[in-house]
Amino acid sequence: MKVEFYKHNIGQQDINNVVEVLNSLFLTTGEVVNEFEDKFSRYLGCRHTVGVTSCTAALHLSLLAYGIRPGDEVITTPMTFIATANAVLYTGAKPVFVDVEPETGNINADLIEDAVTSRTKAILPVHLYGQMCDMKKIRQIADKHHLAVIEDAAHAIEASRDGIRPGELGDAACFSFYATKNITSGEGGAVSTNNEEIAEKLKKLRLHGMSKGAAERYSKRYEHWDMEMLGWKYNMSNIQAALLINQVENISRNWERREAICRMYEDAFSSNTHIFLPLVLLGSRSARHVFTIQVHPEKRDEVLLQLQERAVGVAVNFRAVHLLTFYRQAFGYKKGMYPIAEKIGASTITLPLYPKLTDEEVRYVIQTVKEVTAEYAQTWAE
Ligand SMILES: Cc1ncc(COP(=O)(O)O)c(C=O)c1O
Repeated sequence: MKVEFYKHNIGQQDINNVVEVLNSLFLTTGEVVNEFEDKFSRYLGCRHTVGVTSCTAALHLSLLAYGIRPGDEVITTPMTFIATANAVLYTGAKPVFVDVEPETGNINADLIEDAVTSRTKAILPVHLYGQMCDMKKIRQIADKHHLAVIEDAAHAIEASRDGIRPGELGDAACFSFYATKNITSGEGGAVSTNNEEIAEKLKKLRLHGMSKGAAERYSKRYEHWDMEMLGWKYNMSNIQAALLINQVENISRNWERREAICRMYEDAFSSNTHIFLPLVLLGSRSARHVFTIQVHPEKRDEVLLQLQERAVGVAVNFRAVHLLTFYRQAFGYKKGMYPIAEKIGASTITLPLYPKLTDEEVRYVIQTVKEVTAEYAQTWAE
């Protein structure tokens, strides 16, 4: 048996929707993008959504829309994909890392205030693996110090914590529709916000700062457009939106299947002394984007390779960002600066998790993980 790390869930209806756009006049940002944005906003319970080409773009534009500039500091987590910190660098600001909670891997909200300086302009929490950060505490700190809160919700479409959902307490929430995400257009992203002014600004920023998009220019009596600000070329196309529209309908059903798979993994591993599982907190509903286990850091890579050898697709989410070469060289980060993120980064392994995974495949993954970790447990006990 070979268990793929990921299989997408695009169905015939999604394909038909794309074909319909391909047979139409308008391929770039137009009515289909508007339709997707409205649908996604309704799903989230947020007022506005702006479709872009990736979550990286969503993060970059959200930071710009809230006025983040060179010389500013943005507080974020080292336990994330590089996109989070890189987006801060694109604005000329500096990412300032704060260590994470050992149980969840999320930014430790109790440590944030110590990192606030006169240059701090925003907090950028990441809802790791699909579990939300402590947004109530983060909002309080942000209000006290007049900071924007931009949520990296790339993993967290379906998440909630104490009844709070992404985009509710944050000033903007950024989503990814990358190939392995819970809904996908291959590449894609969006910003959701309750702030109308910011949504309007984001619509300009995603298209060079132009006052009118192609759809407006084409469908109405011609009017000249202006460039009102320096923007980027990050606009979502009708083709991408067509792929996403029907997937929004199936978000809950697919979440249920992933939840059931996670329960199978948790039942199998929770009493295993060689395996540590991140915790889903009480009152928290994880979006169940990825399922990770942690093993002894000195044996992680061997376990990872053994799993791969035995045909179990694996990944690492994530090695701590501050220890990657560029961040070490550019900012002088060293081992020991964010020990919890480093420990997770050195011991974590991501297992397959997607709706098409069969029970038989899940059982194969469980059995293989148990065998491989038991083998290595003998050597790490010595
Ligand atoms: C936490 C996190 N933030 C941001 C991103 C960037 O998303 P995209 O590839 O859509 O730019 C990812 C992508 O995997 C991610 O995992």
